[in-house]
Amino acid sequence: MEQKSILVTGGAGYIGSHTVLQLLLGGYRAVIVDNLDNSSQIAVERVQKLAGEYGPNLSFHQIDLRDKPALEQLFVTTKFEAVIHFAGLKAVGESVQKPLMYYDNNLIGTIVLLEVMAAHGCKKLVFSSSATVYGWPKEVPCTEEFPLSATNPYGRTKLFIEEICRDIYQSDSEWKIILLRYFNPVGAHPSGDIGEDPRGIPNNLMPFVQQVAVGRRPALTVFGTDYSTADGTGVRDYIHVVDLADGHISALNKLSDPSVGCEVYNLGTGKGTSVLEMVAAFEKASGKKIPLVLAGRRPGDAEVVYASTDKAAHELTWKAKYGIDEMCRDQWNWASKNPYGYESPDSTA
Ligand code: NAD
Ligand code: UD1
Repeated sequence: MEQKSILVTGGAGYIGSHTVLQLLLGGYRAVIVDNLDNSSQIAVERVQKLAGEYGPNLSFHQIDLRDKPALEQLFVTTKFEAVIHFAGLKAVGESVQKPLMYYDNNLIGTIVLLEVMAAHGCKKLVFSSSATVYGWPKEVPCTEEFPLSATNPYGRTKLFIEEICRDIYQSDSEWKIILLRYFNPVGAHPSGDIGEDPRGIPNNLMPFVQQVAVGRRPALTVFGTDYSTADGTGVRDYIHVVDLADGHISALNKLSDPSVGCEVYNLGTGKGTSVLEMVAAFEKASGKKIPLVLAGRRPGDAEVVYASTDKAAHELTWKAKYGIDEMCRDQWNWASKNPYGYESPDSTA
């Protein structure tokens, strides 16, 4: 049987690299397009190594999605079964400072991609959306039918791209599109060879905790201790990145279902965990004490956010397998092997 080729934009990044590995192990060919703006080619090399005999089924192209001729060239030489579209900028604070950079990169990049796909008759797409499109949810768990809103330019790019996808499907029902709304991806591949390697000061909780644990930062600032939650700190739905990657394989399979048009699914665990619970789990997994500085709320933060997982369970037959102990175990394994991310001395050699 001929192997199917999947184009993975942003495949050198955190979630993309884990998904590419699962694709290769699942027997797909994967072609990564990434401009390496927020990632390292070392991640691609490690994925290739982890994939063992399937490694040769991976190819990498350092291309910016907005470079239409370069993207066209790829579609001329390869027939893609589908595209998984991760590429985008994702730092909320930066998006508030530089909204045009976010609209240019995320929106133009996506429009160019969709144009090239349509021109080459490739009309199957899985897109990385985010729970951020629920804004400050009035209640939990968040179901896919909740009203949508955005609280910053990053979130607005996700909302706009979701709407663009719905419009495209309305205009041409040959498209099959799955919008995946991720909750809070954390952890790393159990090998400890690939993981999250943010540039600069991490915005998100677990990369920050990880950098405190390896001694790169003195303490974690806890944003908000007066929420009406059990311990006063914010509650989120943390999901192991390998579970998330598997969710993409389920979504790809779903694209072959004739009934699919433009669908949306939450990818979360359905469980809420507070900041202090997450820190305690990480301390247990790492044996490291995480010094805390208790501070006021971070502007824009919601109190409690977690997913309803029913729709993905029923329609994608996908469910997260891992809990926070495994997330912290694998995150610590990655951090201790690679304290400076991909810039660390090679521990995989
Ligand atoms: P990441 O930054 O690690 O990966 C994104 C990749 O896209 C990077 O490798 C980057 O170099 C590449 N890229 C960015 N702009 C590009 C362009 N114009 N052309 C080519 N490549 C480009 O981020 P991630 O955490 O892996 O997130 C992947 C996707 O999932 C993003 O769209 C993000 O918004 C979304 N998402 C992430 C989270 C999260 O917490 N990590 C949550 C919800 C949604
Ligand atoms: C953030 C983004 C959201 C994005 C999501 C996943 C904001 C306002 N929202 O959400 O758009 O989709 O990441 O990438 O940035 N915390 C601390 N100290 C820290 C960092 C975080 O206490 O140094 C707390 C937060 O207040 C929150 C929890 O940890 O209660 C999780 O924070 P974070 O990892 O940034 O995720 P989200 O807030 O869900």
